[in-house]
Amino acid sequence: MRSLSKRLMPVFGRWGPVLLAVIVVYYLIRAPISLAVSSSRLNHNDGNRQNVQGPALGPAGAAQDIRDQNAQQPIGGPRPYQKHYKPAPPRYPALDDHFPWLTKSKVAPPVPEHHLPPSPHVDEATPLLIGFTSNWPLLLQCVSSYIAAGWPPSDIYVIENTGTFSSNQRGELSLQNPFFLNHTALHQLGVNIIMTPTLLSFAQLHNFYLHTALMRQWRFFFWAHSDSIVFSDEDVRRKDRDHDWDHDPFATLYERSIGLMRYLNGPEMPPWATHFFAYDLFTLVNRDAYLDVGAWDTHIPYYAADCDMYLRLHWAGYWQPQSEAGLVFDVGVPMKDIGALFRLPGSHAGFAGDPVFRPADEKAQPHREAELKREQDMWSWVEKEGEAFQHLVEVAERMQNVKWAGNGLSKATWQGRQTGGQGEPYYRDGPGFSAGIEELTNAGRRVFAEKWGHRGCNLLELGIEGKDEWKLERDWDMTKEGGHEGGDWGKDWSKNPSRQLANLGIA
Ligand SMILES: *[C@@H]1O[C@H](CO)[C@@H](O)[C@H](O)[C@H]1NC(C)=O
Repeated sequence: MRSLSKRLMPVFGRWGPVLLAVIVVYYLIRAPISLAVSSSRLNHNDGNRQNVQGPALGPAGAAQDIRDQNAQQPIGGPRPYQKHYKPAPPRYPALDDHFPWLTKSKVAPPVPEHHLPPSPHVDEATPLLIGFTSNWPLLLQCVSSYIAAGWPPSDIYVIENTGTFSSNQRGELSLQNPFFLNHTALHQLGVNIIMTPTLLSFAQLHNFYLHTALMRQWRFFFWAHSDSIVFSDEDVRRKDRDHDWDHDPFATLYERSIGLMRYLNGPEMPPWATHFFAYDLFTLVNRDAYLDVGAWDTHIPYYAADCDMYLRLHWAGYWQPQSEAGLVFDVGVPMKDIGALFRLPGSHAGFAGDPVFRPADEKAQPHREAELKREQDMWSWVEKEGEAFQHLVEVAERMQNVKWAGNGLSKATWQGRQTGGQGEPYYRDGPGFSAGIEELTNAGRRVFAEKWGHRGCNLLELGIEGKDEWKLERDWDMTKEGGHEGGDWGKDWSKNPSRQLANLGIA
């Protein structure tokens, strides 16, 4: 081919313009004929592939389809665009009801006696904000776990951040829609719902929390990740001056949280901004400290927004300690029956993908036989008496292990099993939504790296300070090392929450 075109070059050089003129005139007059000719040539060229793949499949077939549709257009225009479809996404079984007790009884289940919130309500406002975008069963589980751990339902605010306007309020989305939220069920549990005006990023959502706290005059508020599950620790018998140990065997998560808030606001305490209970899976916020340093940087929409915020608070001199108020787990799946959290007889704390029930693999699970036996023994007990504290905690630990053994945070968090909702208001493609979030997450990392001159959250150990914001040259070579990727981004940030503060270096 090369040598042929070389030989033809001089000929074209001389006769090219004439040839071109002839061709143009020919096309203008005889477009239909030329089409037929070139069409048959295309068929001839791609004949083999087409025969193998069948008439309707493959790029050749697609090209032919487009060609037929465009038969009226003169040839010589832009080549028809060829669409190449991705493989179909995996299909998940349809989501079922994870809280049948609530659906059936239409009222909140009773909270076990020793977990009930103090009555009357404590003097302070104790709002707990839980943001929701997708994965309804996880949210229902999270909210239920806080109620069962003694949080007054009327102090829980689900922040609906689905970007579906009032569709959920009107009951227009189906359970299989990833952005489904059941307002009725949440009201039956006695919790509040606040809707964001449009879909907000993580950083924007947190500024919305601050705004809400300003509007409602909450100087302090708690917030939790919707993919967490908590328990009051029934095994801890600490000396808590506020607690009536004679009549109550343990302090609930709620009572201990209030104790901590009072402690932080006590006399001669340093100014504080945040109290972490398991990094920020469960967090207490001092609103005015956040506002003082300019709130969340919305140019860092997801990952690294936390590092940026907590570091700026640290540099501004705010104390951000961490301690426990109960047990907090990071989970990616809901229990099959959330009623288990309320110890309802017959509600079992099981979950899809529990390794205990997987086919035996002795090397990976040395204690599996014993665990399996224990699960079987528990079954009849739970049928009659409801779940036991120790067993609930064991199951939650396994749920967390399954999540941490997976692909990290984002996949498990955003990719629920709901794949339906097509045709409903504000429908969005589920995997497409996840992909969009991932792109924004990466963009946020790039902004962070440009802002602080470093790829990674470990600014303190490098001696970087708040005043260096946007003033430092990059500490890496963009042309040599994978752009904004790499550096210290790969450090162990995403898993064990209790290590994250140590990694940041602020506690
Ligand atoms: C929402 O919750 C209510 C009350 O629990 C229930 O009756 C209803 O079926 C739920 N809606 C959907 C679509 O699951």
